[in-house]
Amino acid sequence: MKSKILEFKTIGDERGCLIALELGHNVPFDVKRVYYIFNTKKGVRRGFHAHKNLKQLAICTRGSCKFLIDDGTSQQTFNLTTPNHGLYIEGLVWREMFDFSDDCVLMVLADAHYDEKDYIRNYQEFSNLVKERK
Ligand code: TYD
Repeated sequence: MKSKILEFKTIGDERGCLIALELGHNVPFDVKRVYYIFNTKKGVRRGFHAHKNLKQLAICTRGSCKFLIDDGTSQQTFNLTTPNHGLYIEGLVWREMFDFSDDCVLMVLADAHYDEKDYIRNYQEFSNLVKERK
């Protein structure tokens, strides 16, 4: 599966809305970690890394942001604007997040614990690894 938007069912009634994320149903991997990015300052761009091996699901539970995915050949920018959309990310891709709204809460589910050794924070190194893996 390449990076793509997964759509979640919103259960709504007169009280408001609820979305359930369930492993094996609408989350396509075993979740080991959840983190969220919030209070992002104006104009901040973050990410600037790839992972050697990590599956992630990024959801703007509140507000909006943009998520750039670069596979070393082409780039795609996803506009995350609603809590019923999740960006599924896997494989060797470079990530950048930007245009955070003031109220943005970007929640990310991942299939592994935090491990700095899994990060590639240098674009040239990322680009070389993409060529090696081809
Ligand atoms: P960083 O990798 O700079 O965030 P991003 O590239 O996604 O914008 O992470 C900021 C700090 O938080 C850095 O010191 C590592 C730490 N961190 C954790 O301890 N656990 C985590 O799960 C993540 C994603 C980051």
